[in-house]
Amino acid sequence: MKPIDMAKEGAEVSEETEHMIEKNGGKEPESVMPGGDAKEMRAVVLTGFGGLNKLRVTKKAMPEPQEGEVKIRVKACGLNFLDLMVRQGNIDNPPKTPLIPGFECSGIVEAMGGNTKGFEIGDRVMAFVNYNAWAEVVCTPLEFVYKIPDEMTFPEAAAFPMNFVAAYMMLFEVANLHEGMSVLVHSAGGGVGQAVAQLCSTIPNVTVFGTASPFKHEAIKDSVTHLFDRNADYVQEVKKISPDGVDIVLDCLCGENTGKGLGLLKPLGTYILYGSSNMVTGETKSFFSFAKSWWQVEKVNPIKLYEENKVIAGFSLLNLLFKQGRSGLVKTVVQKLFSLYEQKKVKPVVDSLWAVEEVKEAMQRIHDRGNIGKLILDVEKSPIPLMANDSTETSEAGEEEEEHEGDNDNKERMPFIQ
Ligand SMILES: NC(=O)c1ccc[n+]([C@@H]2O[C@H](COP(=O)([O-])OP(=O)(O)OC[C@H]3O[C@@H](n4cnc5c(N)ncnc54)[C@H](OP(=O)(O)O)[C@@H]3O)[C@@H](O)[C@H]2O)c1
Repeated sequence: MKPIDMAKEGAEVSEETEHMIEKNGGKEPESVMPGGDAKEMRAVVLTGFGGLNKLRVTKKAMPEPQEGEVKIRVKACGLNFLDLMVRQGNIDNPPKTPLIPGFECSGIVEAMGGNTKGFEIGDRVMAFVNYNAWAEVVCTPLEFVYKIPDEMTFPEAAAFPMNFVAAYMMLFEVANLHEGMSVLVHSAGGGVGQAVAQLCSTIPNVTVFGTASPFKHEAIKDSVTHLFDRNADYVQEVKKISPDGVDIVLDCLCGENTGKGLGLLKPLGTYILYGSSNMVTGETKSFFSFAKSWWQVEKVNPIKLYEENKVIAGFSLLNLLFKQGRSGLVKTVVQKLFSLYEQKKVKPVVDSLWAVEEVKEAMQRIHDRGNIGKLILDVEKSPIPLMANDSTETSEAGEEEEEHEGDNDNKERMPFIQ
């Protein structure tokens, strides 16, 4: 995953965070938070890269919209696998900490800077944010903000941008999905996986092959034509059903799966690499997994692609938006997706809602492969009281907590499927 620049408002720090910066390297804060509740907001702060103990919920200075920006009173934020990788520092050129994580949110427009035609105070919106989404208030340029359909709930809207836009663009902009094609997707029960499955069902006669942890199969069996255990030899399983292979391989497990995926492509088929979930092993970054994945990917031979008539592609939505200036294209995709939503052809699957103070538990759930669909931070939700010995309790005082490498006990939550 490529680096993304931090938006400026996240650079302001509260007293608590200042204290931790001193401990973590003595960097100067960029500004001092003014007193008074109206000047403050609650936010999740990542104090440094590493384990869950690097996350804090704390007060931050309230951001104000600059020229061309929309200020959003946040109702819900999406928690993506990428946020887990950011926390670990498991991305190329990670930004500096402390930072407020999060790339997407939904809420209500509270104020606008100059030149923000098309938006009014009170509009219900969803937005992409270049970090800083996990806060009560977010300011982001209007080109990344979209008015949502009336019937779309805030949790649905927070579950929509990353998963559905990425899935749509890979299937229709990069791979040209059309009638009768076949698609292989990994992590089929996850946020992107479920968006891919739903979008495939909008085209006649598309076969979806998916891999997922076995406990998810019952819940997602209607959305995926052929489901395999994520530990099974999926290449053999696909070939038993379709000896020619598939037309599109969507791979978020870069490394040895790249070779397998390319091997499964039919002539003129497209392989798209869009993630590297497999680099996450323990609670902190594994340099071994990182090196192994990249070494294996570099073995792809372009001459073989030419001889075999295969297409290999990469896709990064955040780079497209924040580094490559394609917000106009993304806006047209969002409008098409809203139309599919209004026709009831797609609907985000929300796994569970979490209070902001429960961010560590939520992140542990995605790490433990427990989610079916999307995890949402609900800004207005009160935390469920935690047991006294719960290791994921948010530290109020900012003291260091022990890391729990491989502590994977999955806490039971009722899935929240809308
Ligand atoms: N390029 C882009 O623009 C873009 C946009 C959005 C997301 N992504 C990528 O798409 C992938 C899915 O993202 P998401 O946010 O929708 O997450 P997600 O699929 O909901 O992620 C959680 C699931 O990933 C699977 N998984 C695979 N390897 C894992 C590992 N090492 N540790 C824990 N779980 C693992 C697990 O499902 P099973 O156990 O069932 O396999 C888990 O339940 C990620 O790689 C993400 O970075 C890319």
